[in-house]
Amino acid sequence: MKTIIEPFRIKVTEPLQIISKEKRKEALKKAHNNVFLLNSEDCSIDLLTDSGTGAMSTKQWAAMMLGDESYAGSPSFRRFENTVKEITGMKYVFPTHQGRAAEGILAVTRIKKGDVIPNNSHFDTTRANIEFVGAKALDLICPEGLDNAREAPFKGNIDTKKLESVIKEYGKENIPFVMLTVTNNTSGGQPASMKNIRDTKVILQNYNIPLVIDVCRFAENAYFIKQRETGYKEKSLLEIAREMFKYADAATMSLKKDGLVNIGGFLVCNDDEWAEDFKNALILREGFITYGGLAGRDLEAASVGLMEALDSDYQQYRHATVQYLAKAMDQYKIPYVKPVGGHAVFIDARAFIPHIKPLEYPGIALVNALYISGGIRSVELGSVMFGHYDNSGTEQPAPLELVRLAIPRRVYTQSHFDYIVEVFQELKDEVRQLKGYKITYQPKFLRHFTCHFESL
Ligand SMILES: Cc1ncc(COP(=O)(O)O)c(C=O)c1O
Repeated sequence: MKTIIEPFRIKVTEPLQIISKEKRKEALKKAHNNVFLLNSEDCSIDLLTDSGTGAMSTKQWAAMMLGDESYAGSPSFRRFENTVKEITGMKYVFPTHQGRAAEGILAVTRIKKGDVIPNNSHFDTTRANIEFVGAKALDLICPEGLDNAREAPFKGNIDTKKLESVIKEYGKENIPFVMLTVTNNTSGGQPASMKNIRDTKVILQNYNIPLVIDVCRFAENAYFIKQRETGYKEKSLLEIAREMFKYADAATMSLKKDGLVNIGGFLVCNDDEWAEDFKNALILREGFITYGGLAGRDLEAASVGLMEALDSDYQQYRHATVQYLAKAMDQYKIPYVKPVGGHAVFIDARAFIPHIKPLEYPGIALVNALYISGGIRSVELGSVMFGHYDNSGTEQPAPLELVRLAIPRRVYTQSHFDYIVEVFQELKDEVRQLKGYKITYQPKFLRHFTCHFESL
């Protein structure tokens, strides 16, 4: 088979600065050793997130010029609504400024204090929105999803047995809906199978509990289903996506991922009563129902982007880039979560830097070393992000110490990836000299964004 090439060529370029190692050291020091506090111009390859960091196509930029900025009833909204309905088959479509706004509207309208919301794995903003209204967010990831080294095709699945026992334990009256996140970002960007989505729906129908899908990466999930699940090889990604949505009663979306835009989101549902509640909350929090939190031009770009994400050449390229990086990691024996997910490679920092104890934050040591060595910005998903303090005030580490290299869509070329691999190669020889960190300042919530570190 021939090399899978980028199914696009470059029309507009953006300068990419490579500042000296000395300057990077200075910049990191100024940022209190927290890469979230760096200026983006000081990062050469920015793998902090795949959210809102993609490049738009010529068709998207052209569509933006058609943006109608009327307050109500714009044709831009109708085009957006038609596209979202074509993919999701849902009756009601509400645009929002990003994914968490859709989650917030869902949470304030459908959840009451004391409720329980199971999910395969909640994303952090989903969890925060649920906890904000006094409910409990439960992660019910399948057992293979917890084993970093185990190769399995659908490690993002929800554990359906656990789901049934949770429904029995908490009572269906306390579970206003169950969620599924596809792909499962928190568990390494791993997909959920169509069978798992269908089985979940069948269970929930028995208890009359609605299913809400977090569909930020629905097209990447559809591609995994096409590649890995029997019976889907000949189907188009649009057909697969439609089947996924068929099992859902509502869905939340961050268009910053598989909408291939830099900002945007939506909420869709079939139920008239839910739609009435969403409409009222949307007007209060986001804007009128035909623009949500977005400009008309954003709606135009997203309508085009959603369909481009379902193009199989695009998905083949997208998955090939992540695989390319993973293969190189295999070659140099850099440990990562296997099989590689859809939007990122998750390096196992605990295995890579075994001499740094979890509470000396090996993930931060690796993130900072990647920045100093090559100007690569990544993110820690370990004890800084997910650690907690127990009742006696003692800090408890997270179960895993991962570093995520999230791949922006259509942004970096193969030589950028080769460069990333070279930086890792270099680091492999220096890994024994890496030191851990201590936290010198931390805010009360979501500390990873703004806390300060000092090298030990
Ligand atoms: C699975 C998942 N759900 C929800 C969100 C929140 O979306 P946004 O950042 O647009 O608010 C994200 C963002 O990364 C995500 O990955």
